[in-house]
Order: sequence, then C-alpha cells, then structure tokens
Amino acid sequence: METMKGLVWRGNGEIQLTDLPRPRLREPEDAVVRVTLSTICTSDLHILRGAVPRAIPNTVLGHEFVGVVEEAGPLSGVRPGQRVAANCITFCGDCWFCRRGFVNNCEKGGWELGCRIDGGQAEYVRVPYAHTGLTSIPPQVTDEQALFLGDILSSGYFGAQLCEIHPGDTVAVIGAGPVGLCAMMCARLFGAAQVIALDINPKRLRMAWQQKLADATIHPSSSDPEQAVKALTNGRGADGVIEAAGGEDTFQTAWKIARPNGVVALVAMYEENQTLPLPQMYGKNLIFKTGGVDAAYCQTLMDLMARGRLDPSFLITHKAPLNEILEGYRIFGEGLEDCVKWAVTPYERSR
Ligand SMILES: NC(=O)c1ccc[n+]([C@@H]2O[C@H](COP(=O)([O-])OP(=O)(O)OC[C@H]3O[C@@H](n4cnc5c(N)ncnc54)[C@H](O)[C@@H]3O)[C@@H](O)[C@H]2O)c1
Ligand SMILES: [Zn+2]
Ligand SMILES: [Zn+2]
Repeated sequence: METMKGLVWRGNGEIQLTDLPRPRLREPEDAVVRVTLSTICTSDLHILRGAVPRAIPNTVLGHEFVGVVEEAGPLSGVRPGQRVAANCITFCGDCWFCRRGFVNNCEKGGWELGCRIDGGQAEYVRVPYAHTGLTSIPPQVTDEQALFLGDILSSGYFGAQLCEIHPGDTVAVIGAGPVGLCAMMCARLFGAAQVIALDINPKRLRMAWQQKLADATIHPSSSDPEQAVKALTNGRGADGVIEAAGGEDTFQTAWKIARPNGVVALVAMYEENQTLPLPQMYGKNLIFKTGGVDAAYCQTLMDLMARGRLDPSFLITHKAPLNEILEGYRIFGEGLEDCVKWAVTPYERSR
C-alpha cells in the first residue's frame, strides 16, 4: 500500500503529522489531487478548540489547497495533470439547495474536507464531486494567488454579497484578518465607495491601508467605533457591515456601526452564543445575515484573478514544507511573528 504524510486531528487539541494510506478514487465524481500548496485556516483552530460540532476526530485537516490532479474519475470533470484549486465546500450541484446556490447546505455535502473527511494538509487528497469542488487554474495564475480561492476569498466575496452593496456604499469590515481583508477586496468589486477597516491589531490595519483595501481604519480601543463610523458617514453609520472577527464585543460593534436599515453580515465563526439586545435595537430595522460560506463563485473569482483584478497572495507571510506544519499551527495559532497566513509546501523526504 502506498503511503503519504498527513496532519491528523485526533480529537481534543491534539494534532499529529503521520503516515497514512494514499487516498484512491471511490466514486465516479471523485478526483485525487497531489497537493502543491495548502494553508492553515482560523477555522482549523476552531476545530482544535472543539468549537466545530460537525468535525469528526481522526480526520486530516485542511480545506484550503491547490494541486495537480493525479487521478480523475469518469464523472469528475477534471483530467490528470490539470492544476486545480479546491473549494472548501463539497457540493453535488444538483440538490434543492445547490440549484439555488446555497451550496453550504448541499443535501450530500457541506463543509466536509478537513472537517468530516480527509483534507488537504497532506500530500494527496480525495476530492468528492470534483466537478464542483475543483476549479482549473489558468497558467497566468500562480499557486500562491489561487490558494485562497475556495475558502477565505470565497468567504470575503460571500460577506460582500450578503451586504447587498450598491455602488457608492460605505462598507465597514470588523477584523482585518485574512477573511476580513478578502471581504474588503470584494466590497470594492461590488462598488463600495468607502471601506472602513476595524481591528485591534495596528499591524493588520496598516496592511489593509497599505494594500489600498481600506480608505479609513479604526482601532476600537483608541476611538469609539460607533462615533468614528458615524463621523465618516454623515452621521448615518455604514450601509453594510461585515463581521469577520468573531468576538462578543465585535458582534455588538457590528450592529452599532450599521446605519438604520443597513445589512449586518456575520461571516466569523463564533465559539460562544451571542445576544442581540433587541429592546435597544428596536427601530433600527437592521437586516442580519449569518453564514457558512456558499462558495459557489469560484470560477468568477478565478476569472477576476486571471485578469489581475484580484490578488490575495500578499496574505502569505510564512511558507514552509509539510514537515514543519506543527510549528505552523503554533505560529499561526498564537498570532506570532505577525503571521497572517502560513502556506504549506510539499513534504520533503530528503531532510
Ligand atoms: N463563514 C465562513 O464560511 C468562514 C470561512 C473562513 C473563515 N471563517 C471565520 O472567519 C473568522 C475570521 O477568520 P480569519 O482567518 O480572518 O481570522 P483572524 O483571527 O486572523 O482574524 C480576526 C481579526 O479580528 C481581529 N479582532 C479580534 N478582536 C477584535 C476586536 N475586538 N475588534 C476588532 N478586531 C478584532 C483580530 O485582531 C484579527 O485580525 C474566523 O472566525 C473564521 O473561522 C468563516
Ligand atoms: Zn477556512
Ligand atoms: Zn447539493
């Protein structure tokens, strides 16, 4: 039996880089992908902390990766040798939800890879429903650019979509982490005239500013976010708010900085219940949306990348082979060395 290296979550907080059988095709829609670049997501940290009820222990983690098709089932829609980017959501494309674009709730899928079935922090990965789960990478797009397509870039796009942005709107994004930065990028695509970034980490605010993703930045402990956003919006508040931080205070900030009748899109994954103070909010007439990403726009996002309209590769601050992934979890997980994204290159056997 051929083996490979993979990072397995054992349950509780325990992860282990170990030898595993190399995955094979099981269904006609499957493809097996040789991973050329993967990464660690904040959602992996939520799994480690036991905050993802759907996660199944003894699964290889990783739901953000790119690679080359190694084996392709007859109905996979891909061919061996093709460069592909993975979608973090597994979906059939044909059920009631998929037909409406609500792929996160596919009757046969959802967030599966690196959560309920073996994912991409490995040398090889089996991708079910490869016809919807893999997007071909054109030659002018690098692995580094395509890496985030199916998860955090899709989530940023999803957040911007949820906000129903009209040209000229002001969109406030809470959390200038990878997801928040992608949301800012996508808010621009939908025509936001002003993007406001809020974060307690000044370095991340600087990144948002330097990458020209934000027009204004707010540090919530140095100025009252509600007043600061009002000051930038003729006293109204933001037309759309994307909450990509996931804390209790940020949940409250989200509805406070929205203007009346605005949209609040919660894309962060909360580890705790949150309370809406409805009496206080009465009359503000907000629209609240929550979401696990409906990642149904990967081809659109890939086309935008191919034409130079989107490039999230600047998020990669660290890169090391799979051999060092435990160190990656430590550095990324604890927010050390100003790590934004830790990219994982293939396992090196010669070490
Ligand atoms: N909806 C989805 O399908 C989906 C997909 C991917 C990730 N996520 C979730 O999105 C969230 C963000 O992911 P990420 O990788 O960007 O995480 P991250 O932890 O890197 O980013 C969160 C940011 O919020 C900032 N922050 C923390 N407290 C704050 C506060 N009080 N005020 C302002 N900013 C504050 C942090 O400094 C950080 O920059 C996570 O919860 C992740 O699990 C959701
Ligand atoms: Zn993720
Ligand atoms: Zn489906």
